[in-house]
Amino acid sequence: MSSTESHRIWDILKRYDSDPSALIQILNEIQKDEGYLPHASFELLSSELNIPLSKIYGILTFYEHFKLVKPGKNIITVCMGTACFVKGASTLTTTINNILGIESGETTSDQLFTFERVACLGCCALAPVVQINGEVHGQMTPNKLQKLLTKMRKEEEKGEKK
Ligand code: FES
Repeated sequence: MSSTESHRIWDILKRYDSDPSALIQILNEIQKDEGYLPHASFELLSSELNIPLSKIYGILTFYEHFKLVKPGKNIITVCMGTACFVKGASTLTTTINNILGIESGETTSDQLFTFERVACLGCCALAPVVQINGEVHGQMTPNKLQKLLTKMRKEEEKGEKK
């Protein structure tokens, strides 16, 4: 854990007055700030909140939304809810597998792309839906998605050369 991360976590702990009953809110805040929960933060939380590490890990495994691995720079989220599924969401996941070479929950080795699947993004009328870095793209097709991902990949490569 970097010293900047560590400082931010201390700030969050201060805000909650190191209250052990606020553990879930504290974990949520850390994830909001860092994009994930660094492993090194758990010992700090354990000692500061006086909660056994085993209890912290129990909570992390119970709540699926906690991320233990640092996400990539770009987050690609495919909705697998009913409306999106019946309109071909699985063909979109296959497109991502083929272009980025990753499965749901994985990040490319260059740390540029993370692929996630969710149950419903709340805009079913636009099905099938893909969210890219928080921006919703409705009526997605494998062809459109392929073009978007290829464009993003090229832009990232250009950015790296600068
Ligand atoms: S099912 Fe995909 S947005 Fe609701």
